[in-house]
Amino acid sequence: MKLAIFASGNGSNFQAIAEAVKSGEIDAEITLLFSDKKDAYVVQRAKALQIPVIAFSPKDFDSKAMYEAEILHLLEEEQIDLVVLAGYMRIIGPTLLEVFSNRMVNIHPSLLPNFPGLNGIKDAFCAKVAETGVTIHYVDDGVDTGPIIAQEKVMIEGNDTLASLEEKIHNVEHKLFPSILAKLIKTRQGENHS
Ligand code: GAR
Repeated sequence: MKLAIFASGNGSNFQAIAEAVKSGEIDAEITLLFSDKKDAYVVQRAKALQIPVIAFSPKDFDSKAMYEAEILHLLEEEQIDLVVLAGYMRIIGPTLLEVFSNRMVNIHPSLLPNFPGLNGIKDAFCAKVAETGVTIHYVDDGVDTGPIIAQEKVMIEGNDTLASLEEKIHNVEHKLFPSILAKLIKTRQGENHS
């Protein structure tokens, strides 16, 4: 099973997945990291792990469709089975979705459908809800919509700050995402062999 991970920022989830691949928890290969931000820290993480990096921006193209067509070409060339969005902060357009819709998984730092968008942790914190969490879901054409695969709750305690909540959420993400990917990949491998 060949994975492509898409990320735009720090890449702590990318790192957690890469470690799970290395330890054998996830039975797959990370064929490439794609980033829409050439200077993102995730690019350095991938290089340090000797995972091939491809990085370019939609700004390098005349349209989003052309940007995504270039990504699609790379994914097809590398025969990617599953695309993993790990902090990829863009909406996936029809060019990629038509080919990868049931083979593209995203992580979001809230209990969807609550608090979608760019600031899931902060929005939940500011809304003063008692609990938030992490969602893993298939990608569709909405913002953090699409069929939910798994969720885990995180309580917001009275003494939590935004920083402490962020830490709690990321700790859950770094365990939940690799374990759900491991299960999903195992199931798909079983289906391919039956
Ligand atoms: C993660 O918290 C992920 O859930 C979130 O971006 C962060 C990336 O962190 N994704 C979204 O908000 C998607 N809407 P990382 O770069 O350290 O993995």
